Amino acid sequence: MKRGKLWIVFFGLLASGVLLVVWNYQSANTWFVRGGTLTFKPWRKESSNKIINYTHQKRGFGTEMVNVTKEHHWILMWRHPWGVQTEGPRDGKDLGKCTITYDQKRLPEASAVIFHYSGLDRETMPWKHYRNPDQLFVYLTMESPSYIQIGEHRRTMSKFDGGFINWTMSYRHSSDIFSSYFTSANTIFENGKQKVEDLLAKKSRTGLWVVSNCKLLPGSRMRYRYIEDLIQAGLPIDRYGACFRNKKEFAALSPEVLHSYRFYFSFENALHCEDYMTEKLWINGIQSGRVPVIWGPLKADVEKLAPPGSFIHTEDFKSPAELAQYLLRLEKNETEYRRFFDWRVNPDERTKKIVAQHYLIREEQLCDKLQRPFSRKYVESISDWFFGNETKECLQN
Ligand SMILES: *[C@@H]1O[C@H](CO)[C@@H](O)[C@H](O)[C@H]1NC(C)=O
Ligand SMILES: *[C@@H]1O[C@H](CO)[C@@H](O)[C@H](O)[C@H]1NC(C)=O
Ligand SMILES: *[C@@H]1O[C@H](CO)[C@@H](O)[C@H](O)[C@H]1NC(C)=O
Ligand SMILES: *[C@@H]1O[C@H](CO)[C@@H](O)[C@H](O)[C@H]1NC(C)=O
Ligand SMILES: *[C@@H]1O[C@H](CO)[C@@H](O)[C@H](O)[C@H]1NC(C)=O
Repeated sequence: MKRGKLWIVFFGLLASGVLLVVWNYQSANTWFVRGGTLTFKPWRKESSNKIINYTHQKRGFGTEMVNVTKEHHWILMWRHPWGVQTEGPRDGKDLGKCTITYDQKRLPEASAVIFHYSGLDRETMPWKHYRNPDQLFVYLTMESPSYIQIGEHRRTMSKFDGGFINWTMSYRHSSDIFSSYFTSANTIFENGKQKVEDLLAKKSRTGLWVVSNCKLLPGSRMRYRYIEDLIQAGLPIDRYGACFRNKKEFAALSPEVLHSYRFYFSFENALHCEDYMTEKLWINGIQSGRVPVIWGPLKADVEKLAPPGSFIHTEDFKSPAELAQYLLRLEKNETEYRRFFDWRVNPDERTKKIVAQHYLIREEQLCDKLQRPFSRKYVESISDWFFGNETKECLQN
């Protein structure tokens, strides 16, 4: 090729490069961060009613009140959890005064934006320098620090330090929006006494354990060993799940068989992570009418959140063998086993309070809070909030 032609090719490429950049710039949503470059057009701030108290406190926990008076609130889910379309609340879900949307173009109108932890690692995020100060950015996680620390999200999380997040939404009791894995607490006391009799009449088997994560986390390995020790000590435990290559067999079990187990092993994959109790406790144990035997969270954490007398905690036993002996004794003595159902028949005030606390789903709680004045606040460092106060057992690897 001649020199002249090379120049033409060179300038041609340069020109198309420039065009590409311009096109990219134009099509970029105005509030996005693209490849680290801020492109932004300020939106009209919606008027709101504020009760301002300028007695600011340190670390963003001010006392300035925000009173956003709106007939209707949009709650924007920034992305589906893990980018999976079927995860998260339904697009358009009606929560009374609020509606769920996944349409990022609604960002300027949204009263709150929920960022699932799995979506907090992208460049395409509304950036903290361009904020509607009355809009809430909410961090959502239902996973433990033990799990999140092994993935990429741990590394990128600190990019959102400096007050990106206003409210936290998680299984931790101390979150701004506390959301457990307990989704239908209201059904627990239905037909109290008769329901309990029906449940007890079906019991004929001992222990059930269903698990899919065998070796991934230190906690998964520890719980596995604990179960093996229980079996060694003579406790019959039926084990199902991916770890035992019998998922199909489990799916085929009849409701009668599932109801016949007295105990469910609610063994989490993390040890001593604050308040980390999952569906293994709430759904597979309590809601399914099986007494949960708990390993993972500290007993003190469980006591804050579960009805008194509803569970057995491994912490109360010196060894797996001692626990096995106790469970075998309960199996033989119906009077003693039955005590774990008393709270369903005669709920005390504490139990009622605990159940009420689990009554609303997290988006409903958020909607509720949006309708009342709330104090302005932000979380200085979301990674400190999540990892900073955890035990070394939780964070071991
Ligand atoms: C403002 O906040 C401070 C500190 O919390 C409090 O002592 C004071 O009573 C508040 N003032 C008003 C008007 O709410
Ligand atoms: C919030 O603003 C609305 C509309 O101005 C007002 O009616 C309501 O009383 C305010 N709430 C509080 C607690 O000030
Ligand atoms: C069952 O437990 C109750 C209460 O602890 C006790 O009074 C009773 O003797 C036990 N029954 C048997 C057969 O061990
Ligand atoms: C949310 O956090 C930001 C800090 O990044 C703050 O400027 C804003 O006032 C907070 N908004 C509310 C409603 O708390
Ligand atoms: C840290 O953990 C302790 C013990 O679990 C708890 O009492 C305290 O409230 C936690 N602090 C924060 C800031 O979460």
